Amino acid sequence: MKIFLDTANVDEIRRANSWGVLSGVTTNPSLVLKEKRSYEEVIKEIASIVDGSISAEVISSQYDEMIKEAHRLASLSDKIAVKIPMSEEGLRATHALSRDGIKVNVTLIFSFNQALLAALAGATYVSPFVGRLDDIGNPGMDVVRTSAEVFRSYGFRTEIIAASIRHPVHVMEAAMAGAHIATVPFKVLEQMLHHPLTDIGIKRFEEDSRHIPKS
Ligand code: G3P
Repeated sequence: MKIFLDTANVDEIRRANSWGVLSGVTTNPSLVLKEKRSYEEVIKEIASIVDGSISAEVISSQYDEMIKEAHRLASLSDKIAVKIPMSEEGLRATHALSRDGIKVNVTLIFSFNQALLAALAGATYVSPFVGRLDDIGNPGMDVVRTSAEVFRSYGFRTEIIAASIRHPVHVMEAAMAGAHIATVPFKVLEQMLHHPLTDIGIKRFEEDSRHIPKS
């Protein structure tokens, strides 16, 4: 089980990276927009910080444009996995790019069958969106669990990234469901780190240590 950070904010990435728990970063156009910087500038800076996989998403939904964008993104760093949306054009692009040796993360996966098709087309990663499925009353983790079981039993090499993670319980459930990776917002990573009893314990040890007689 690995953890990726789901953000385009380089301060968050630097902080989390210093903890030694990160294996990669995932971004999407909505996350890059929040940074108010150019797409390529952000991706290049992330690549200079993180020693792991970095997912950068194409903006186009048309095959020819996706291929062009994907090659441009992949040329920024050998750490890049190009994020391609799940669609007929996306599957064609995934197939072509993976044959060219470009890693693809198929995103916007909402069913097991979409995950299966993406894996068969050559995806390095598939990203089921757990939180967005939960939002509409469908247990998102079921897609992760079924995909993980089937991929394992057929020996698929495609890794499952549990995405759209909203809280620490999602991370635990993703691990138990067999996800290879959970990509988490920085806020969730911080929530994973903290526990009120740890904070109380640290405070008590600090206070008691002040009363230990000096030798
Ligand atoms: O990176 C894609 C995914 O994690 C988006 O999450 O919270 O916008 O559904 P969310």
